[in-house]
Amino acid sequence: MSVNTIEENRSRNLFGDQDEAWLFGYGSLIYLVDFPYLESKPASIEGWSRRFWQGSHDHRGTIDNPGRVVTLIEEPGAVCGGLAFRVEASVFAQLDEREKNGYLRVATEMTFVDGSAATGVTYLATADNEAYLGEAGEYEIAEHICHAHGPSGTNSDYLLELAIALRGLGLQDDHVFAIETHILEIQDQMKSTSP
Ligand code: SIN
Repeated sequence: MSVNTIEENRSRNLFGDQDEAWLFGYGSLIYLVDFPYLESKPASIEGWSRRFWQGSHDHRGTIDNPGRVVTLIEEPGAVCGGLAFRVEASVFAQLDEREKNGYLRVATEMTFVDGSAATGVTYLATADNEAYLGEAGEYEIAEHICHAHGPSGTNSDYLLELAIALRGLGLQDDHVFAIETHILEIQDQMKSTSP
């Protein structure tokens, strides 16, 4: 049985009766925006790093062959850049469904490029969720990603599209870009060895 966080997230009433909230996106939420929003702008959060340490049973892999997707790992001094969306509270039902494979809504402070800040929500997959895969070397992660796919597409497209989106936002992410380089090499090798 795969983990499903929908009920837990529904019971997390982070903002009382507020009818809208800021959502901080740092993974596919940056480039696959299939939800309505009122406004969007680049933002960052402090003390967290983006890592391909979460498993995906339902989007970029399966229970038997999970993909690897991003979560946030606590790291003092780190800054994780992403994209913030101001959304109506009703949108969280849709987001909970999309992020149900281990991600929990947590409150986070985010800073916008103009220096202003807001408290909002991000979806975080912690090490105790059933889909969590944990740390691995970047080459190992790249190999894993090259051999996984699920109902939402290939795992490599998840990473390559994220890397493109981060560059588009002017963001540097050594972890993501190192895995991207390895994936492109592995894909080249796979092409040159296939008949
Ligand atoms: C996010 O994008 O903020 C969460 C992780 C994901 O859906 O890829």
